[in-house]
Amino acid sequence: MNRKNPNTDSFENLSQQAIVALLQSSGAERTALFEQSAQIKEKYVGNKVYLRGLIEMSNTCAKDCFYCGIRKSNKKVTRYDLKDEEILAAARYAYESRYGSIVIQSGELSSKRNTERIEGLLKQIREQSEGGLRVTLSCGEQSLSCYERWRKAGADRYLLRIETSNPELYLKLHPHNQNHRFERRLEALEALRVAGYQVGTGVMIGLPFQTLEDLAYDLRWMQQLEIDMVGMGPYLEHPDTPLYPYRNQLLPLADRFDLSLKMIAILRILMKDINIAASTAMQSIDKLGREKAIKVGANVFMPNITPGIYRDFYRLYENKPCTDESAEDCSNCIEVRMALTGHSIAYDEWGDSAHYQSKKINK
Ligand code: 5AD
Ligand code: FES
Repeated sequence: MNRKNPNTDSFENLSQQAIVALLQSSGAERTALFEQSAQIKEKYVGNKVYLRGLIEMSNTCAKDCFYCGIRKSNKKVTRYDLKDEEILAAARYAYESRYGSIVIQSGELSSKRNTERIEGLLKQIREQSEGGLRVTLSCGEQSLSCYERWRKAGADRYLLRIETSNPELYLKLHPHNQNHRFERRLEALEALRVAGYQVGTGVMIGLPFQTLEDLAYDLRWMQQLEIDMVGMGPYLEHPDTPLYPYRNQLLPLADRFDLSLKMIAILRILMKDINIAASTAMQSIDKLGREKAIKVGANVFMPNITPGIYRDFYRLYENKPCTDESAEDCSNCIEVRMALTGHSIAYDEWGDSAHYQSKKINK
């Protein structure tokens, strides 16, 4: 993974201590951080936003993460599984709306049937859009051979959040069994690299028991791994999860939001040419949360194109936005939202990570 770094801006090798100081910054220092990250973004990836139509394929999950609303043990969730036709129709909608790219996300399921089903869907999506859509998968930890099959069938990118890069904190957020091992998650990220994906990861910000040092380390960890894409956002408590009793220990929502903006800004400074998503969780706290994220460094926006009737069921956390809208409503609102940020929308562009491309060239 050796790569000549074309970056010449100051600030790029921030120490752990310097990152913690930036995460704590306020007033003029905070403003300077956001100005710097916005400038770097403009210089390296431009003031444009790539779209990824988000299809939440199923909220059934085999795992039991302590923070997540769709965890297996939450019996209050109405489980759904989109029909193949619905997924294909959503993909067609994204293509016809000139999004350039989609993300298929689901709870984590590992079975022969699931592998084959997604493989089939990928092939059909490729066929119906004549290879014109880039597809990102976000379907959890799978074997290398499964990742390879999906890659071959047409998936180019994969998102697998590490959630936290601190193994001790990871232990506090997950059940202690073979199904929820930190090392296995790392191995899965490595397998995605081997299978040739553009690899995305991310963390939650403002988790119980998490320190600023943890967050600073998360950023340096992503830099060390030379990750191509990042999606990260604030942790939001969910009443039907085991972490809910710890809600009194959390930072106020506004502070979690501010910390998330700073994480995005610092990441942009550290990793100038990667793709950074403006996460939906940011919008749960602040109506203009995603726009603010874009202003300080994010360059990917993921309009939800899951058929409206299912949206309310994909509740990872409380107050998830856009759960009562249709894809058409989202499309109309993107134009208005992006105009607010002074960015243009990159219609019909795949928006591959510039970082991934430059790594290939320098190999
Ligand atoms: N708050 C914020 N983000 C959450 N996720 C899951 N549960 C929560 C929560 N309570 C995020 C995780 C997961 C992604 C799909 O959603 O980071 O990887
Ligand atoms: Fe589904 Fe964590 S609860 S992956």
